[in-house]
Amino acid sequence: MQISPEIKDRFKNSKNILALTGAGISAESGVPTFRGKEGLWKQYRAEELATPQAFSRDPKLVWEWYLWRMELISTKSPNPAHFALAELERKRSDFHLITQNVDGLHKRSGSEKIIEIHGNIFRNRCTNCNRKYDSDVSKLKNSTGCPNCKSIVRPDVLWFGESYDTDLLNRAVSLAERSELLFVIGSSGAVGIPVELARIAKENGAFVIEINIDPSGYSKYADLFLQEKAGEIIPELISYFV
Ligand code: APR
Repeated sequence: MQISPEIKDRFKNSKNILALTGAGISAESGVPTFRGKEGLWKQYRAEELATPQAFSRDPKLVWEWYLWRMELISTKSPNPAHFALAELERKRSDFHLITQNVDGLHKRSGSEKIIEIHGNIFRNRCTNCNRKYDSDVSKLKNSTGCPNCKSIVRPDVLWFGESYDTDLLNRAVSLAERSELLFVIGSSGAVGIPVELARIAKENGAFVIEINIDPSGYSKYADLFLQEKAGEIIPELISYFV
């Protein structure tokens, strides 16, 4: 891929670099995306299972889906795109990462300055006392009861129709406002708030680079659209940062 000298200059001169990632960055690790053709589990779409209503109707079914995803993700590893973003954090102290992914692969690749705005599938929360627990798939298979109050625990992830954690969202908005260079990587733009973050960054003067194998709901804000696989192009892009 030919990256122009102007773009390389931007990499050098931009401050407060931000990356916003979605399921597409983990696709090359073998984690199924939500809206691709592999997005179905049994006959269900994510939108039918990842809701408070689905959980109160049939918690066993929703847990079955999450346990399946947790087990699957446990067998996968971060790919070159995750590692490259972790390297960018080491190169540039003004780099931050916001991810919609709950798979924990960014953290496993070494990223630390990261906001997981949709939570983390390997953490649970009690529906009654709100205590948080690290997930242990084998224990959860036997019981999804809270060790403290015996109420049912749920995955500590954001479901459709739920409000964002205010603190996380405020931090994400502030990063978007200050960013001079935004990478949007592997997200369809089907969820409104992350697209808003890109709009906010753009309106505040950020140069927006989108990396996706297909155009998305973010593409209207992109100054540069790179139609590439994340794992193939991100390591090259990061190599231009000093
Ligand atoms: N490289 C780059 N992009 C890719 C790759 C790849 N190798 N493979 C797939 N993509 C792109 C697809 O073209 C698509 O635009 O990744 C995107 C994945 O989109 P979604 O499955 O909709 O995932 P995402 O945008 O992260 O979903 C947002 O919706 O279900 C909820 O809370 C869940 O965080 C999730 C949110």
